[in-house]
Amino acid sequence: MTASEPHILMCPPDFYGIHYEINPWMDLSRQADHGLAVQQWQALRQHIEEAGAKVSLIEPVAGLPDLVFTANAAMIYHDRALVSRFRHRQRQGEEPFNRRWFAEHGFSVVDVPEHFSFEGAGDALFCGDTLYAGYRMRSDAAGHQLIGQMLGCRTIPVELVDSRYYHLDTCFCPLSDSESLWFPPAFDEYGQTAIRSHVPRLIEVVREEAERFACNAVVIGRRVITNTGCDRLRELLRDRGYEPVATPLDEFVKAGGSAKCLTLRLDGEEAAAWKQG
Ligand code: ARG
Repeated sequence: MTASEPHILMCPPDFYGIHYEINPWMDLSRQADHGLAVQQWQALRQHIEEAGAKVSLIEPVAGLPDLVFTANAAMIYHDRALVSRFRHRQRQGEEPFNRRWFAEHGFSVVDVPEHFSFEGAGDALFCGDTLYAGYRMRSDAAGHQLIGQMLGCRTIPVELVDSRYYHLDTCFCPLSDSESLWFPPAFDEYGQTAIRSHVPRLIEVVREEAERFACNAVVIGRRVITNTGCDRLRELLRDRGYEPVATPLDEFVKAGGSAKCLTLRLDGEEAAAWKQG
């Protein structure tokens, strides 16, 4: 693994579906269309490869429909994989499969202490050298502080206050080491102030597009891949020198996820944003 090559983990959606409800987007009476989900996942993979990233796969497992959301498998920092401990019993079965994959692929597996929930890159994103860590719904604030100490990096825990934006990657997306997308109403006052005072340039997403998961973008170099229906954001991105790419991901929105959730940066979460200059 070279630090310079974007490398992404994905999981084919063979067993994906809405089998339970653990966030406000999931509704057992609104099932995903399996064939369409497969097509949407394949198109996303293609866009990621076209943007110049290598894609590795973790094998899907029957009975673990949310394993497709590899952002929650772990958070990668250099060669370390901080493997997730899920809040909900329904996803805890994913843990041994994730752990095994990282161990077998050359990562040094780090466990977060047992009494904390931690949902990986879904809740832990770097903007520059600073780790922004979402808590309350899925991950614990005290756990994030410990992780920051373990990694030796500045950590800014931010509280998530809207259950529709239950992971940090649904409302915050670093684009470069000094610029980020965000949806302010997903944070409390304190979190909003912390983000405003630490991230030099912020691009605010409108509610309508936040609901289309505009903040849940995969950033590979200057390419920013999102769900369709985020046209206002596309314009803002173009003005700032990014190359927006839209691909339909509605079947995954039914589970409360979109582009970023379906991916995990293996070359390190700290490498995810565009390095300028
Ligand atoms: N159904 C999944 C859950 O509620 C969706 C996970 C989306 N992942 C993400 N990184 N936001 O856990």
